[in-house]
Amino acid sequence: MDEKKKKVILASDHAGFELKEKLKDVLKENEIPFDDLTPRFDKDDDYPDYAFKAANKVVREKARGILICGTGIGMCIAANKVKGVRAAMAYDEKTARLARQHNDSNILCIGSRTTEEDEAKKILKTWLTTRFLEGTHARRVEKIKEFEMG
Ligand code: RB5
Repeated sequence: MDEKKKKVILASDHAGFELKEKLKDVLKENEIPFDDLTPRFDKDDDYPDYAFKAANKVVREKARGILICGTGIGMCIAANKVKGVRAAMAYDEKTARLARQHNDSNILCIGSRTTEEDEAKKILKTWLTTRFLEGTHARRVEKIKEFEMG
């Protein structure tokens, strides 16, 4: 499937809500289809609820995901509990690029309290447009998949 057309599953908790709204602009500008699992702000919500819902959908629909919370860390920990998910934190364009090239990450996690809007947009664009390098990296990712299967 053309990576550019692959659907994005987007979600945030209350801490990530504002940044999530801004990142939607990047998806719209690039005509990337997306489902927003956090359509409304709820100050009392909990990030694991969104992480599990989004992660399950990413796996089921062979999509890719963007999860935003205060640090991105809680979302990342929770999403990685779901089989088939390789969620990665990215702090800059370099970590975003490597999370795709080496780890074939299918979920990107960003912290709204640790990453400025401009940087987050650059991270997102880089992550969306970078391909997995395959080769030796595929062998390593395969080992993760095998472990997961038990
Ligand atoms: C919520 O205050 C905060 O803990 C959450 O958004 C996230 O940063 C957790 O990892």
